[in-house]
Amino acid sequence: MTDAPPTLRWDADLDTLVLLDQTKLPGSVEEIVCRTVEDVFGAIVRLSVRGAPAIGCAAAYGVVVGFDESGDAAAAIDRLAASRPTAVNLFWALDRVRRVLEASPADVRDALLSEARAIEVEDREMCAAMGRHGADLLPDAGGILTHCNAGALATAGDGTALSVLFEAHRRGKAIRVFADETRPLLQGARLTAWECQQRGVPVTVLCDNAAAAAMAAGKIAAVVVGSDRVAANGDAANKIGTYGVACLAARHGIPFYVVAPSSTFDLSLASGGDIPIEQRAAAEVAEPFGSRTVPEGVDVWNPAFDVTPAALITALVTERGVVRDPSTQAVADHLA
Ligand code: MRU
Repeated sequence: MTDAPPTLRWDADLDTLVLLDQTKLPGSVEEIVCRTVEDVFGAIVRLSVRGAPAIGCAAAYGVVVGFDESGDAAAAIDRLAASRPTAVNLFWALDRVRRVLEASPADVRDALLSEARAIEVEDREMCAAMGRHGADLLPDAGGILTHCNAGALATAGDGTALSVLFEAHRRGKAIRVFADETRPLLQGARLTAWECQQRGVPVTVLCDNAAAAAMAAGKIAAVVVGSDRVAANGDAANKIGTYGVACLAARHGIPFYVVAPSSTFDLSLASGGDIPIEQRAAAEVAEPFGSRTVPEGVDVWNPAFDVTPAALITALVTERGVVRDPSTQAVADHLA
């Protein structure tokens, strides 16, 4: 386990939301005390809090912060919904909070805070269940490649993809995590490696463009990643580069697992082509971490996510179990 503060917490003394500032990791462990909706909005946009389930939890608490700030929870919901477009957990959580608000409870603040707490607790439980289901799929030993960070830093619990790997490690499986560094913001190098190290799980960081060579060298037994939104047919959006990893896994006959709670599924979208993909600032690519690597004036394309077609996904893992060979019918049956 880790001594670091949790990804997000409602601080009883401060009576407000406190976030672990992930932009500072692994160099320093700092927290952000959120007093305004803009504090929460900015933290989500900057990726101080990030990862689909964590964004949803933070936003739900952010509505309480907004209520305390102005008394206008509805305005807080609208503002937070504009923070990031791809992770559907954000809209799922805000919809839950909106329904509470629309029921006009006697004590609005208490009702909003209870709902945010429920979302956090449920997320923690879903992480644990996904860990158990996913760990069953992994071999007793071998390298497991993951992309981005789908761990405790991305959720209220132990993570989605990383919950699976942590559970496999707890069970005594001799796995080694291979963490793609995950350009441009290095969630794999900075965050996944940090989490694994904190928990004593063997981890190796590799450049994104070394994944093919690692597979060709026989170092990778399975790929396990999270998702920001899964469409009705099982197509899954995740951090940019995931689709490439899935293509490589198919080429090498390596199983490719996507681990995501039911709150990450968007059955209103028939396929992944309908998932809105966030475009982020050119500076993240051209001037990463304050150091210019692209000549001034050169165009940059910086999508934050891509979509892996269901055909490349060996199985989806949710808190309910495993969907092998995902399809519209299989996903509908699983979530029914
Ligand atoms: O831009 P980020 O860091 O929020 O992207 C996060 C990811 O892509 C994760 O893999 C995804 O949210 C699943 S997290 C459990």
